[in-house]
Amino acid sequence: QTIVAIVPAAGVGSRMQHNAPKQYIQLAGKTILEHTLTKLSQLPQLQTIVVALSDTDPYFDELPLTDARIVRSSGGKERADSVLNSLLFLAPNPPDWVLVHDAARPLVDLADIERLISECLSANEGGILATKVKDTIKRGDTHSKQTVPRDDLWQALTPQFFKYNELKDALQNALQSEVAITDEASAIEWVNKPVKLIAGRSDNIKITTPEDLALAGFLLNKQQN
Ligand code: C5P
Repeated sequence: QTIVAIVPAAGVGSRMQHNAPKQYIQLAGKTILEHTLTKLSQLPQLQTIVVALSDTDPYFDELPLTDARIVRSSGGKERADSVLNSLLFLAPNPPDWVLVHDAARPLVDLADIERLISECLSANEGGILATKVKDTIKRGDTHSKQTVPRDDLWQALTPQFFKYNELKDALQNALQSEVAITDEASAIEWVNKPVKLIAGRSDNIKITTPEDLALAGFLLNKQQN
């Protein structure tokens, strides 16, 4: 079974209030994107690591990356478009499976990725890392209207691991239908295919706001020591 990683990194990081896109912010000695790619580089089962980038991204080619499996592809308007563009980039020589991992999640645990891959391969089903919701969740706008029962609520993380063809078809279908596609699993659910939930570490945070930076820096320093 051949596996390729796709790293959507074409976002502008508007919620970060920072000049460069958030994947280029320095934390614990390296940019966030380098931390993420260094993690993925430790997985020998990946044939290629495709990084989806904005065509006007001036930063990527300056990074001191050494893994020859890393290649650049064009991103798109939304995250789902970036992932679909990377899948189409791979179309001349498609892998069996793709592992999609956010550039903005450098803290992912390698053992969690290994478990996601092996459990999905043995079940022959796609799946995602996810963590059970811990907090009490409210629905509302200015005031809380309702508390949502959390027993069966999960927070979706990445990586998300699906068969190449299944993900390409699902994303094309979902993008045409204009449903909200904020991760790969939402497209797979839209076409009624299974998504296995694999419990992963909750410190695999997506760096989104300035508050996330201090926590991520602390955790990255801890991981490196
Ligand atoms: O904006 P958000 O935090 O949801 O982005 C998640 C990931 O998707 C980030 O790594 C970001 O760079 C990427 N992305 C992308 N193409 C877009 C928007 C976001 O690759 N058009």
